[in-house]
Amino acid sequence: MRPAMKILTLNRATTLALICLASAASLPTLASAPAHDAAPAAATKWTPGTLRNALAALPKGNAEAGKKVHDTLFCASCHGPTGVAPTQNWPHLAGQKAAYTAKMMLDYQDKRRLEGKRAELMHDIAVMMSPQQIADVAAFYEVQAAPTGDGTPRPQANAAPKDVPATTLVRRGDKTRLITPCASCHGVVGQGGKLEASALAGQNPLYFVRTMLDFQGGARHNDSVKGMSSFAKNLSRSEIEALATYYADLPVTRGVR
Ligand code: HEC
Ligand code: HEC
Repeated sequence: MRPAMKILTLNRATTLALICLASAASLPTLASAPAHDAAPAAATKWTPGTLRNALAALPKGNAEAGKKVHDTLFCASCHGPTGVAPTQNWPHLAGQKAAYTAKMMLDYQDKRRLEGKRAELMHDIAVMMSPQQIADVAAFYEVQAAPTGDGTPRPQANAAPKDVPATTLVRRGDKTRLITPCASCHGVVGQGGKLEASALAGQNPLYFVRTMLDFQGGARHNDSVKGMSSFAKNLSRSEIEALATYYADLPVTRGVR
C-alpha cells in the first residue's frame, strides 16, 4: 500500500480506491474481498443521517467469521485473542458495541479518525478491509465478555478542589457545564448505549485518558454530533483520570458483564 500513499495530489476518494487496489493486489488472501463501498465520500463529516445510512448499508455481521478476520488480519496480535489487549498500549475491544466498532473502522478508513501515530496504524489496517469483514469483526467483539480487572496502572488523579466526583458525573452530569450524565448514553453499567455510544466498562484507563484528551484538544473529532468533544472540553484532566479509573474498575465493582 505504500506506493499508493505517495499519490497525494489526487483527491482522497481516488487515493483511497488506489490504496484498496494496491493492498488487495499485494495480499492474495484479500483479493477476493469486495472493494469497500459502504462509506460515504472520503473524509466527509458525518451527520446523524449519513451515519445511520452508512451503518445500515453494511452487511449483517457474523461473529464466527469475525473471529477469523480478527485472527488473520492480526487484530489479535495487538488487541488480544478475544479483544482484551495484553498491553497497556492498546484499547480493549471485547464487549464493544458492533455499531461503534463498525463506525471506528469506517472512520479510520476515511481518516475521519486520525489523531496520531497510533491511529495511523489503524488506518493502514482498516483500508484493507471489506464491508463484510468490518461487519463480521464488529459482531465478534460484541459477543465477547467485557474485560474485567484491567491490569494497567490507574492514572494518578489528584482531584482539584472544583472537581465533581466521577460517580456524580456518570449518574447526574453537571448542568453548570452542560455535561450530560455519561450513563445516559453509555449505559448504567458502561455497557454501551444506542447506536454508536460505546461500551466503556473495563476499558484500558490509559487509552481512556488519551482518547478523552484527544477529544478535548480536537485531535479526535469524528463524533457525529460533537457531543463527546464538548463534554471532554468541559472536564478537567483530573476528572478525566477519575472517570477512567471508575470505568476501568466498573465490571469488577458491579460484578456484572
Ligand atoms: C499493531 C497493533 C494493532 C493492530 C494489528 C490492530 N490494532 Fe486496532 N488499535 C491499535 C491502537 C494503538 C489503537 C488506538 C489508537 C489510539 O490510541 O487512538 C487501536 C484502536 C482500534 C479501535 C478503536 C477502539 C476504540 O475504543 O475506539 C478499533 C475498533 C480497532 N483498533 C480494531 C482493530 C481491528 C478490527 C484490527 C484488525 C483488523 C486491529 N484493530 C488491528 C493497534 C492495533
Ligand atoms: C449524548 C451522549 C453521550 C454522553 C452524555 C456521553 N458520551 Fe461519551 N460517547 C458518545 C458517543 C456517541 C461516542 C462515540 C463517538 C465516536 O463516534 O467516536 C462516545 C465516545 C466516548 C469515548 C471514547 C470511547 C472509545 O472507546 O474510544 C469515551 C472515553 C467517552 N465517550 C466517555 C464519556 C464520558 C466520561 C462521559 C461523561 C462525562 C460521556 N462519554 C458522555 C456519547 C456520549
